Amino acid sequence: MARLVLDSVVVVTGAGSGMGRAMVEEFCAEGARVAALDIDREAAEATVAGLDAGARALAVGVDVSDPESVRLGVEEVLGWAGRVDVLCNNAGILDSYLPAHEVSVEEWDRVIGVNQTGPFLMSRAVIPDMLSRGAGVIINTASVSAFSAAGGGTAYTSSKHGVLGLTRQLTFDYGSKGIRVNAICPGATLTGMTGADGGEQAVEMDPEIARTPAGRWCQPAEIARLAVFLAGSGADFMHGSAVVFDGGWLTAARNPF
Ligand SMILES: NC(=O)c1ccc[n+]([C@@H]2O[C@H](COP(=O)([O-])OP(=O)(O)OC[C@H]3O[C@@H](n4cnc5c(N)ncnc54)[C@H](O)[C@@H]3O)[C@@H](O)[C@H]2O)c1
Repeated sequence: MARLVLDSVVVVTGAGSGMGRAMVEEFCAEGARVAALDIDREAAEATVAGLDAGARALAVGVDVSDPESVRLGVEEVLGWAGRVDVLCNNAGILDSYLPAHEVSVEEWDRVIGVNQTGPFLMSRAVIPDMLSRGAGVIINTASVSAFSAAGGGTAYTSSKHGVLGLTRQLTFDYGSKGIRVNAICPGATLTGMTGADGGEQAVEMDPEIARTPAGRWCQPAEIARLAVFLAGSGADFMHGSAVVFDGGWLTAARNPF
């Protein structure tokens, strides 16, 4: 695997749990300086506290759906590290699996706000710094729900399709200016979102997961290692890709949910 340049500055949102926590760990292990952003500041601090000795990381409380919170958070990161080389737009929330006629405007706004507006606001905040150096990488965490229905409900599925649209438009606008933008589309991964912390959903899904081609859950560290690859020079030719990492879920066209 092509290694990151030592001392790259990486920002990970949703860093207090699941894939985001694993991304912080993997990027730090590669020698990067990592800003761990989460709406739950204590969870981000716990991620940083759990890192190996010598890791260089900063926990920041940021709500990615709030423009002022994003502005202040990125300002803090730039004050700490001086630049942002890699942005991982990973924070996301699930909806209530409801069809459109049952979705409240509040639920719609909440899910779109975090999952779709969040990556837009974070990208908008770091792109001027990337443009000033003519280099940068943005990695958006979408989902198999960017390609198919039923992985979530109306709001979640719409938001993840939107993340791919953002990925492509950012690529169109900034690819030739040195900023590479790609998306990761995970399948069922054992995280807080799917009940890895003891919730019931993972247990309910187990028989369905067993019927996917891979026959198992994805581990957050596998997604994190993909993010490290996408950030490195080995992925230099990748612009605007949606990397499906789903154990065959979409190929088998048998949705576990
Ligand atoms: N787990 C899966 O099976 C799965 C599958 C496909 C895609 N995804 C996507 O992967 C990403 C990571 O999810 P995960 O499974 O690790 O979930 P998770 O629930 O374990 O972690 C999400 C983190 O995001 C944080 N967060 C929530 N709202 C936020 C906000 N407004 N601002 C900042 N941080 C916020 C949470 O506090 C939490 O720490 C999400 O975008 C999710 O939609 C997950």
